[in-house]
Order: sequence, then C-alpha cells, then structure tokens
Amino acid sequence: MCGIIGYTGKRQAAPILLDGLKMLEYRGYDSSGIAVSENGGISMTKAKGRLDNLVKLTDGGKSARGTMGIGHTRWATHGEPSDVNSHPHIGEKGNFALVHNGIIENYLDIRAFLCAKGFTFRSQTDTEAVVQLLEYYYKGDVKEAIAKTLNKLRGSYALGILTRFDPDTFYAVRKDSPLVIGLGDGENFIASDMPAVLKYTHDFILPEDGDIAVISPTKVELFNRNGETVEHKPFKVDWDVESAEKGGFPHFMLKEIHEQPKALEQTLLPRFDGYSVKSDGIEFSKEYLGALKKIFIVACGSSYHAAMVGKYFIERNCRISTEVDLASEFRYRSPVLDENTLTVVISQSGETADTIAAMRDAKAHCSRVLAIVNVVGSTIAREADDVLYTRAGPEIAVATTKGYTTQVATLMLLGLFIADATKSMSKALYEKYVDELKALPAAVQRVLDENVEALQKLAYDYFAFDKTFFIGRGMDYALALEGALKLKEISYIHAESYAAGELKHGTISLIEKGSPVIACATGEELFEKTLSNIKEVRSRGASVIALVKEGREKTMGAEAQHVVSLPALSDEMMPCVAAAALQLFAYYVAAAKSCDIDKPRNLAKAVTVE
Ligand code: F6R
Repeated sequence: MCGIIGYTGKRQAAPILLDGLKMLEYRGYDSSGIAVSENGGISMTKAKGRLDNLVKLTDGGKSARGTMGIGHTRWATHGEPSDVNSHPHIGEKGNFALVHNGIIENYLDIRAFLCAKGFTFRSQTDTEAVVQLLEYYYKGDVKEAIAKTLNKLRGSYALGILTRFDPDTFYAVRKDSPLVIGLGDGENFIASDMPAVLKYTHDFILPEDGDIAVISPTKVELFNRNGETVEHKPFKVDWDVESAEKGGFPHFMLKEIHEQPKALEQTLLPRFDGYSVKSDGIEFSKEYLGALKKIFIVACGSSYHAAMVGKYFIERNCRISTEVDLASEFRYRSPVLDENTLTVVISQSGETADTIAAMRDAKAHCSRVLAIVNVVGSTIAREADDVLYTRAGPEIAVATTKGYTTQVATLMLLGLFIADATKSMSKALYEKYVDELKALPAAVQRVLDENVEALQKLAYDYFAFDKTFFIGRGMDYALALEGALKLKEISYIHAESYAAGELKHGTISLIEKGSPVIACATGEELFEKTLSNIKEVRSRGASVIALVKEGREKTMGAEAQHVVSLPALSDEMMPCVAAAALQLFAYYVAAAKSCDIDKPRNLAKAVTVE
C-alpha cells in the first residue's frame, strides 16, 4: 500500500526521493508525488499512474533543486487515483505539506469542523484533513501543532511532514502504519520500509506509535506528545543492497524464487545445535506447555497457507489441537482464547492490518502471542510476546515466494521445538525431521536446477487457458491453495483450489475436456487416494500436470499428461520443496502473458488497511 520516503541532507533531494519511490513501487500504487523545500516555500509535483510519469514531469528530479523533501506512492482508498488526490497534500496556507500512509477514520468529522471554520478542501482524501488541521493548530510551534493534530486523529497513519519554516528539518510520526528512520552521514531519511534506503544506510531507528520525530541532516530527535524527549536505540540491518535489487533477473519474483535455498539456509541452519532446536530466546515453561490446550495459527493469504502446513505438522507431531484462521475472520468469530492458548501470527511484512488486529485481540484475551515474521522491527514483531524471524531477507515482489517457504520452515522448527519440550515425538522421527530440514535448502536448489526448462515449456502450453484447478489432500491441499494463489495473482488466470476428495461433491461438474488440473500428489500417505481423484478428473477429459516425489513418476505417468518429479523427502517437507516448482510455473505463465509480474494489478505488498 502507500509508500513514504523523506530526505534531508546536502544532496539534491528529488532524485533521491524518486529513487526511493522506485524501491517502494512493489507496495502497490496508482499515483505518486514529491514535495521539496525550495526558496522558502514548498514546490510540489504529482502524477497519476506509473512513477515514470512523475520522473518525466520532474526531469528525473532535476527540476526541483532543494535538499529536503518528501515523496509518496499512493494506493487509492479515499477518492479515485488522480493528480489532485495524489500526495503530498499541502495546507491551504501553504505552511505544511505532508504524505500519509494509513486511514484517518474520522476525516469527515475533521473536514466538517474545518469547513465550518472557513477552510476549503481540494481533494477527496482523508489525508487532506490532516494537513488542514495542522494549519489550523499552528500558532508558531510546529511540534505543538503536530501534537494537537495527532490528538484529534482516529485511525492509522505514518506521516512525513514538511513545513515552510524549517529549510532543512522535517517531521515524521506514525501510529499503526510502518515507518523507519534511516540514519546517514550528514543526511537522514524516512521510509515505509528499509529496502527503500538501503543504498544510503544500514542504520535505523524505529519510532514508536505516537512519537514525533524531528529530522535534520545531522540530528534525529524524538518527542512524545507532551514534548518530552524519548530515546530509541538505533540498530543495524545486515541486508545487503543487492538483496533489494534485481541482480540481473528480469523480475524480483524470479530472483526471490532462486534465493530460496539461501533464505532457507538462513532460516534453518543457525537454529540447530546438533539435533536440538535453538529457541531464539523463546521459553515455554513446563507448566505453560502442560496447560496449553490449543494453538491458533492466524494469518492472511500465503501466510495462511503456510499456517495450514504448520497445523498439520504441529497437530500430528506435538499432539496439541491446532486451528488455523484467516486473520480477517478470527476476531469476528469470537474464538475461545485464554492463558492456556497460544496464538501464532504469521506475516512476512509484519504490517498486515488484519493480522495486527487479530494479534491484539488475542493478547487482549490473555492468549500468549508468538509471531513468525520476516521484517525486523515491524509492528507485529514489536507487539508480539515472542518472535521467530524467518530471516528470508527483503522480499520485494508482491507475490511472496521465499517469504512463504521460510514461514513453512519456521513452523517446522516451532513444531520440533515444542515436540522436544513435550517429548511428543519419537527420537528417531524427531532426528529424521532435523536431518531433512538441514537438507531442505539443497532439495529446493535441485528443484530450481532441474525443472526450469520443463516448467517454462509447460507454462507455454497452458498460458492461454482462462481457468485451472489445483487439487491435493492433506498438506498437498495446503500446497494446492498456495499454487493456485500464485497463479491467479500474477497471471490473472482463474485458479480454483480444492481438497481432492471434495471435488466429487460439486466442483467436478466444472471439469470438461481439456480442463487443466494441477494435481499435488507429493505425499506418500495419501498418494493412492489422490491418484483415484486424478483418475476421476482424467476420465472427464482433464489435462493433468501432477507433482510427485521421485519414484512415483511411472505410476503417475499412466494418468497425468505431465509429471513433475521432486526430490523425495518426508511428506512434511514437500510443501516447501514443491512450492518452488509451482512458483516457477506461475511465474512463466505470467511471463508468457506479459503480465506485470512484480506488481500485479490491484495488489499491494503490505496490506495495511483492514
Ligand atoms: C500472496 C501474498 C499475500 C500475502 C498476504 C499476507 O503471494 O503475498 O497473500 O501472503 O497479504 O501478507 P503478510 O505475510 O505480509 O502478512
């Protein structure tokens, strides 16, 4: 969703802002804009559509000469995508300009209040209410005007604020929306996330909800709303600059698919000490685990599909009842939560609004919350009782790939950790899983090494279809859901994912001659049953691509038109191994259709609105 960037230093600000916005494009947007402090005033340029429009309008940033500015990519919520609704928004007295990520829930009340005071509004946005409120409250003290404005706002926001009064100092605040402050040498930054400014700095401060940051080229000061100084320790991120660049790949998605072996290594290998799983400081006491009645795993989208794999693994191996929930449904169904439940929230970005809300609800009902998160210092990571980082590195493509597989791997670690503590698993099985998790990065590497050509060819055979079916049982059903989501979100081909055994209860009526069915049959335990379901669709004319473990090619070959053979690990490991093949398939289908793979229409990387 919306992306924010801000700069103050000695360099010309506009090219840096445009560069930062480029790095934030993946979050999803439909217009963009920058505001730069110049000649005692604020100059602004905004453009509907692609960032290139703004780049052209500003001659690559050369047209604005100032050394401090803010920039924004807008994903429309209130008001259509248009130049006038784009950010930055400027107050009617021209004293303040600001960019905003989030939603101001009471903006209509604020507008009505200000209109009664004689203010006029130009845009349809909720954001304009904030900048006009700043104008209203400004009586000579910027910090005071910001504090008074914040006291009136309901909703979520990250704001970057320029004023006409400070030629090299700007302001930033956040509440329930992501914002980081990047610390440079004689220059400082704000951004919606770290990759946007990694080129300039690896040192960051994370402002807390309600802090007011005052940012000049040489200093970053933080205050609470009472004007008292607050301190937050800076920290360093070890992500390299290349990790936020395409590195020769045509798309971030393809690069991130190929980064999975390395990402999985980072997730898994440092977490093992021989056969024991290191807990990253998480302690579950004997009493806590003894009293634990239920685990809820709560997430959205692909993270939810990872949760499904985790449920199978944990329930089966830890013998603790485990439920998975879509975060957007969880809190509205009144789940039975108390101190004897553990809520595991999963989020790559750590900023997904529904998951944040679910986490807060679980905490409010006394459930301990463990977060599985990729982005360090994100809202979920900060608010959860415990955090297990997935360590995937920055994920830029909107469609998650390494984010998903590292979540699955982290859930396995969690399962093993609980199983070890509760002694719910035999030593032999436990050690087998540890050995296989250690071998997982190499297995995924093999999938990537051995299947690219075949999957590319398959994609060319299938890209013209307008509907597909993904089927599987057990963990293969979770895999089918993820495979279908990948295909539909980037290629816009409708993909229906179904538990293979359920097909005959309705959906099979959709199968006709030539219907493409992607059958996930990687699990041994349910292989025969899935094979029967494949026969059912084959006999109705479906064209089947089947994913199987090595050794099953011949049996499956008798039914399916195409068989993708995958390294044979335990069934539990296969969703990770096979996901890489399904990601490649989706990628090449979307490439064959010339889709905008990294930034699919209507989608945003971090979904910061409910
Ligand atoms: C699909 C995808 C989304 C996310 C979902 C949750 O490829 O990326 O479905 O998985 O929006 O996002 P996070 O994990 O950041 O909470």
